[in-house]
Amino acid sequence: MIIAVDGPTASGKGTIARALARHFGLPHLDTGLLYRAVGQQVARHGGNPDDPADALAACNFPDSLLADPALRSEETGGLASRVSIHHAVRQALYERQRAFATRPGGAVLDGRDIGTVIAPEARAKLFITASVDARAQRRFLEMQARGAEVTLPAIAEDLRRRDERDRNRTEAPLIPASDALIIDTSALDKDAAIQAAIEAVEETD
Ligand code: C5P
Repeated sequence: MIIAVDGPTASGKGTIARALARHFGLPHLDTGLLYRAVGQQVARHGGNPDDPADALAACNFPDSLLADPALRSEETGGLASRVSIHHAVRQALYERQRAFATRPGGAVLDGRDIGTVIAPEARAKLFITASVDARAQRRFLEMQARGAEVTLPAIAEDLRRRDERDRNRTEAPLIPASDALIIDTSALDKDAAIQAAIEAVEETD
């Protein structure tokens, strides 16, 4: 059983994907981390994230890098969004994601194009979304708790910029698969969002 969980930044898709993996006893891959790793490596090597050759050269990173907490920073998220528009980068990361998705027994993957590109055959496709205000507020509280110096308007602006880049790129844009179930988490707390997702997957039986 493959469960595809797509959606924009701070929609709650990561939390939901982890909870679904636990609930259904499946392995989970946060595919955003792959793009974040590429973005981080380009910057570390002094490359230009907007240059396809520089970005492609950074795709050969070890799996151990995926555990680096620095991948979670907003700065690395921005770099990830920039390298992710390159066709060569998406191709280079495709096999890694595809191999995970097709593990015997199934898997949960979350990202932007799991239901449309990586695993269009997934049994359950969820598209998790929420208003920019709700997402900015969540990200703000999360970052404040981590001690980061941030402001709500700056976070909202960053989210808008990233959404726009992810939605408007020509390859694998952020759009729900035609058969995806859309869950808007703007007015849901964490437990209610998880419950809605579990029920949605159960209904695909
Ligand atoms: O989900 P996360 O915020 O970690 O993703 C970082 C960036 O990586 C996204 O803004 C998006 O541009 C890119 N990404 C992607 N396809 C995926 C997962 C992430 O293009 N499947």
